[in-house]
Formats: sequence, C-alpha cells, structure tokens
Amino acid sequence: MAKENDNLMDKIISLCKRRGFIYQASEIYGGFANAFDYGPLGAQFKKNIKDEWWQKFVTERNDMVGLDSAIIQNPKVWEASGHLKSFTDPLVECKKCHKRFRQDHVEEAKAADKPSDEQKEMLYCKGTEEHEFTEAKNFNLMFKTFIGVSEDSASTAYLRPETAQGIFINFQNVIRSTRQKLPFGIAQIGKAFRNEITPGNFIFRTREFEQGEIEYFIKPENEESKKWYEYWIKEVDEFYTDLGIKRENLSTREHLKEELSHYSSGTSDIEYKFPFGISELAGIAQRTDFDLKAHGLHYFNEETGEKLIPYVVEPSMGIDRAALAFLIDAYDESDGKDGRAEGEITLHLHPKLAPIKAAVFPLMKKEGLPEIAKKIALDLRKAGIETYYDESGSVGKRYRRQDEIGTPWCITVDFDTIKDETVTIRNRDTMKQERIKILEITDLISSKLK
Ligand code: GAP
Repeated sequence: MAKENDNLMDKIISLCKRRGFIYQASEIYGGFANAFDYGPLGAQFKKNIKDEWWQKFVTERNDMVGLDSAIIQNPKVWEASGHLKSFTDPLVECKKCHKRFRQDHVEEAKAADKPSDEQKEMLYCKGTEEHEFTEAKNFNLMFKTFIGVSEDSASTAYLRPETAQGIFINFQNVIRSTRQKLPFGIAQIGKAFRNEITPGNFIFRTREFEQGEIEYFIKPENEESKKWYEYWIKEVDEFYTDLGIKRENLSTREHLKEELSHYSSGTSDIEYKFPFGISELAGIAQRTDFDLKAHGLHYFNEETGEKLIPYVVEPSMGIDRAALAFLIDAYDESDGKDGRAEGEITLHLHPKLAPIKAAVFPLMKKEGLPEIAKKIALDLRKAGIETYYDESGSVGKRYRRQDEIGTPWCITVDFDTIKDETVTIRNRDTMKQERIKILEITDLISSKLK
C-alpha cells in the first residue's frame, strides 16, 4: 500500500542517484545544469523502454520500417523544414537581473496556485521583487555548431531538434529500397537537441534528450488524416498503459490553434499526471504534406502510375519523459500495513521494463549453495535474462535491495535445493514464495516476459 508521497520528485531523484539509474552529468566538475547521465540500471531500463517501443511499433508491424539517420545534416534541411525561421520560443528578459524565461512559462507561473521553486524564479527577481520584463522576442531553439576548421556562416550546421526530418529526407530512399505502399510508416529512435530556455524537473525537460518518432505516410485526404490521427493517439496511449502506467494518470489534450507547431494542422498531447503538474508525454500531430512538400519529395506508385505528396501523421514521444513517468508510476513507499516495513520502497516496474529481471541468492555462503546459485544466475544470463547475484547480508535485506530497483523475481537457493534441486522464487509485488524446480526457472521467467 502506498504512503502519501510528499516530495515525490526529490525521492525519485535520490533513489535514481543512489541505485545508479540516473546521475547528474559532469558531477565531478560540479555538475552541468539540466544534463543527466544514465547509470548501469538506468541505461538498461532506458534500453528496455526503447526495445519495447521498437517491438510494438516496428517489429510487430508489416507497415513500418526503421531508420537511424545522422544528427547533423546539411543545414539546408532546417531551412526547408521551416525550423530556422519558426522553431522559436517567445522569450522575455528581466531588465534588472537579465535572466531569460519563456513567456508562456511565466504566464503559467503567474497562474499557478502553488508555484514551484522554478516558477518562483520566474516570478521574482533576486528573491522578492518582481521582474521587469522586456517585450517578448523570438529565440531559435536549435543548437548551432561549425563544421571543419573555420567558424563562419558557410560552415554553420545544427544539431537536429527533432529526429523527424531525418525520416522525411530519406523518404524516397526508403521507398526505393523497401517498395512500401501507402499507408506505411518510418520509425526512428535517437537524440534530439534543443537550447531550451527553461529546462527543468529532472529529466522532463533537458537540452539533450531522446525521441521515438514515427512518420506515418497516408493518402493526402483530410478524412484519412483524421482517421490515422485518432488511431495513433490510441496506439501511443496503449504503449504506456500496456507497460503499466495507471489509466487515471493519463489524459489526452488537443492543442489550441495558437499552440500548434509551424508544421501542424492538428496536434494532441498524451499527458501524464507528474508530481509537478499534468504535462506532455507524447504528441501526435497531423503534419499534412508540409514537410515532404518543403523538401520537394513525392510518392510514385510504379504499379498504378499514381504520383502524389502523401499526408503525414506523426506520433512522437520522449524516451526520457517516458522513463520518468514509468518511475513515478511504479514508485511505492510502504505504509507498514502490507507486510513490508514502513518506508520500504518498491518499484512496481513492468517486468519488461525492469532493468534486472531476476536476482539469485544463496541462503548462506556455505555447503556449495553459492556454487549452485552462481550456476543458476549464469544460465539465466545465457538465456538473455538480466540477472543479479547477491550473497551479502540477510535474505530480507537482499529482497529489499531488489524491491527498490524493481526486480520482479528473487530466487533463493537453500539446503533443500541440495536434496531435491528446487528453489524458492519470490514475487516482488505479492511477496509470495513458491517452490519450483531449478530446471523450470528459465522457462517460467521467459514466459512472463513475453
Ligand atoms: N517531431 C515532433 C516533435 O518533436 P515535440 O512535441 O516538440 O514534437 C516530441 O516533441 C516529444 O519529445 C515530446 O512529447 C516530449 O516527450 C519530447 N521532448 C520534447 N522536448 C523535450 C525536452 N526538452 N526534454 C525532454 N523531452 C522532450
């Protein structure tokens, strides 16, 4: 049973650091604001999220192919896509302290009942006085860099602010090599970079992040666009609920006209109830023929002779935001009435997402128990199941260490194991233990991960 969680974000940040999910980047040099490194457990956890995304949206579908395009492309891409001109945020600057904020975030801070620390910074200059803001100016969010030795405009290039353009510019390559017919999609997972003015809330808004994006190409008709838009909203929502996000914490919100990106004729966000407020997890946009037209690309069906510029529906999600939502949703601190001691933490991560699937313990470090346990751990690893071997401390302590990182199954080798080749397997969520044969362990766990 969950305790009411005050300061949930602080608790999650602390757990992530302590157990090696997520560290502050460049920590030994005093850190680097709003940048994070995924530690051993975090790297595996994030990989599991990406693998599940790829499995659902690419591997299981006949109408989807994958791509892995370059981060730095010809700068003409960003000119054509409209990002150079329009990928901007309106920015206000305080005339006294010269701090800059996004105008819409300042408006949100003004409207907040209980402003967060970050919002207080937007409201007050040097602690108490109000800021004196300039008129809003548009600020381009793309990171600039220079290619080669000279630093002039001829060598300027940009880090991609979305993975999507890599898909659009490869549209004809992909059709030529795969002979896909409409409707079909191209999917890609990769890093994107934005010079966010007000990053914050841990890994929620950072300047370097990962996206999972699909550009789904359809006939250029408004009815088709609407149909696939609704379809993809459902699919994306299902991605989160299938992997354990509680229904009541998810919602869908359609963008107002004035919020729409320069390429979109209609967007809906899938939102999550984060501890700092309901915020965007993913966006599904109707990009019409905006991008293909901008790049001068079209679709030609060799069999029918049909030539057209398809419309596009784009489901786009942040992998880091998904990671944060999965962690928050899974976090549980015992109230002491559920068989655990008060304050004990369990991460009820979906087994497919859990970084470690099984932990193997010898009851004691004697009479050959460690050797048997190590052999079980090795067999599990060889079967592709991430496994942790632990022989230190009481078994209760070892269970708690695993509960805290979301390990779904703990296997204990005891003295009966020597007699009858059985072990106990404990379920993280129910805490129930069953006795099973050593030979059954791998199949049992594998079947639950399907
Ligand atoms: N290609 C469309 C696109 O990029 P977006 O709504 O700007 O649309 C898509 O971004 C998703 O990427 C968002 O729903 C969010 O999950 C993630 N995202 C965007 N900016 C982010 C940031 N600064 N930090 C972390 N994730 C971000």
